[in-house]
Amino acid sequence: MKQSAAIIEQQPLSLEWERIGLLAQILGESRQGNSIPAEILDRLQHLQQQVDRFRHQLSGWRPLIAEQLSPIEFDVLACVLAPEAEPWLGWLFQSLQPGLSTPYPTPALLQEILAMAPEDTPLLYAALTDNSPLRSHGLIEVETSNPYCPVRPAPGVSARVLGRPLPAGNIPGAVLNNHKVCWNDLVLPADRVAMLQEFLLWITHKNKVVNEWGGGDCGGPVGLFSGPSGTGKTLAAAVLATELGWPLYRVDLGRLVSKYIGETEKNLNRLFDAAHDRPMILQFDEADSLFSKRGEVREARDRYANMEVSHLLARIESHQGPVILTTNLRKHLDPAFARRFQVVVDFPRPDAEARTRLWQRLLPPRAPREPEVDPLFLGRAINLTGGSIRNAVLHAAYLAAGDDRPLSLGHITLAVWRELGKDGRELTPTDLGALAAHLPGETLC
Ligand SMILES: Nc1ncnc2c1ncn2[C@@H]1O[C@H](COP(=O)(O)OP(=O)(O)O)[C@@H](O)[C@H]1O
Ligand SMILES: [Mg+2]
Repeated sequence: MKQSAAIIEQQPLSLEWERIGLLAQILGESRQGNSIPAEILDRLQHLQQQVDRFRHQLSGWRPLIAEQLSPIEFDVLACVLAPEAEPWLGWLFQSLQPGLSTPYPTPALLQEILAMAPEDTPLLYAALTDNSPLRSHGLIEVETSNPYCPVRPAPGVSARVLGRPLPAGNIPGAVLNNHKVCWNDLVLPADRVAMLQEFLLWITHKNKVVNEWGGGDCGGPVGLFSGPSGTGKTLAAAVLATELGWPLYRVDLGRLVSKYIGETEKNLNRLFDAAHDRPMILQFDEADSLFSKRGEVREARDRYANMEVSHLLARIESHQGPVILTTNLRKHLDPAFARRFQVVVDFPRPDAEARTRLWQRLLPPRAPREPEVDPLFLGRAINLTGGSIRNAVLHAAYLAAGDDRPLSLGHITLAVWRELGKDGRELTPTDLGALAAHLPGETLC
């Protein structure tokens, strides 16, 4: 499972911290006039090579950046993050800047730690200016150009790169989805998986296509995921986010679109400013509310709402960063709209074979179960979406736990019955297909 990804991702960074620790220790020793043992210098050289290799692949750094930084920019970023990653480095930095009570390095300390020749220092100061990549991507904060004023990571940056929870309210109007999932967790036809992987290419290769190859920059990319509720749209968004190592934020359109005139605009600006060019995916659910056809607007109030809506859509399209729109209502979608998105993926209801895989994946792996609980039989027996299978499986597990018995077809059938009943329909046992024979008799009384 993907749990290992975070660990693998952090390994390259632990080499970064070790390297910075050595550089800082060497500085401390050389300030006291001590010589540096050869094995320390060898280790440093070895670390330098490994760190360069990982940086070249952006290994460990992807949660923060999608494009290469210069060596000095990487060095500054690593030094500024180091005290939050490894507190001992914070104390070490503090001891190297006596008189300043901060664990964060000043430009003066950076210059010394990185052993920069005087002619190279303009590169250091260029990396700290307003329009440097580190500042324009919102990675570091510099209060003044004073060489003795500390450089800090911007809020939330160390949380993102170190896989720690982001501070609440980091992206206004959006909620973090922290679900870590991998491709294997997603049961979809192969062509849909291919489309999702192509959407990833739009995200990961944007720099090459737009900047190096001169391809047109159309913002986004924006992907539209359509399909009935419970077919895996949110799960697919989480797979893409996990794959990138980026956070996924779900934007609550209801919260964003205010009934107060002018407020929506402000909310939108706050959201998109916070997300601008940052490595994260924004997901807007029930996006069909954004594409009501023009002819459908009748009353003045609706017209006003529609004006906001077209503005919102334009903002989404011009946003630099991946956006996923999800909708349950593909057929209401104006085809002219669909063409505005870079990738459109239809999520089908699962067929019997996909349902078998879903039952297999979703049955709690360590729950004791009767041999009759067979994913192949269940997949064929009843036409449910992945979301309904997940709910039914969990409900059945609680029924079995309550009975203190292995999970049986009786538990599953009752759970499916409850799931089908959720939409308020009048049910008959025939709705259960081949499971009908297992419905506990008292259920119908
Ligand atoms: N295609 C699928 N593959 C694997 N699991 C699925 C799939 N569809 C639904 N599920 C299960 O149902 C849950 C809810 O699905 P979700 O992604 O929220 O559906 P949607 O966003 O389309 O309404 C998922 O977390 C997962 O457990
Ligand atoms: Mg969803």
